[in-house]
Amino acid sequence: MPETAPRIALVTGANKGIGHEVARELARRGLTVLLGARNAALGEAAAAQRIDDEFGRLDVLVNNAGVSDPRDAAPSTADIDAVRRIFDTNFFGTLAVTQATLPLLRRSSAGRIVNVSSELGSLAMNSDPQWMIRGRGSLAAPPEAGPTANR
Ligand SMILES: NC(=O)c1ccc[n+]([C@@H]2O[C@H](COP(=O)([O-])OP(=O)(O)OC[C@H]3O[C@@H](n4cnc5c(N)ncnc54)[C@H](OP(=O)(O)O)[C@@H]3O)[C@@H](O)[C@H]2O)c1
Repeated sequence: MPETAPRIALVTGANKGIGHEVARELARRGLTVLLGARNAALGEAAAAQRIDDEFGRLDVLVNNAGVSDPRDAAPSTADIDAVRRIFDTNFFGTLAVTQATLPLLRRSSAGRIVNVSSELGSLAMNSDPQWMIRGRGSLAAPPEAGPTANR
């Protein structure tokens, strides 16, 4: 890639929220930004093919699309359907987009993958009895449950 060629970035979930702002900022810094939005009909593989056809590579992938759900809670009370939906988007969705775009990222001279996460996805935070979210009921075990009792 010539040094002057604009870098190509894909930001998932870029139609609003943090993804929209990330896309705006990357564009302001001169990157060509592709906005990923929900499109079940297109799918990850077809989206990657379109990027390949148009640009031949990808320099930055921002895995931003994600959901949270107040029905996600301690294992004893978590709503299984809510947890399944969260995993489907936050884990399997991220994995699918990453797999589909990896060949394009490998063609970049400095490919980058940025995974947007959350305290809620942190094993360290979830294991910390002092973590403020532990006291909030639905999203984690109550503080009195103790460090190993995320039940
Ligand atoms: N906001 C916070 O305080 C916070 C804190 C920590 C981490 N985060 C993380 O930051 C990221 C963005 O959060 P946000 O607050 O900006 O959320 P948001 O405003 O709700 O935006 C979420 C984006 O993800 C997309 N998305 C959701 N489910 C999807 C699916 N199944 N397939 C494709 N796209 C999907 C949404 O598309 P639609 O518009 O079509 O639904 C939307 O574009 C998430 O990963 C979130 O976990 C946020």
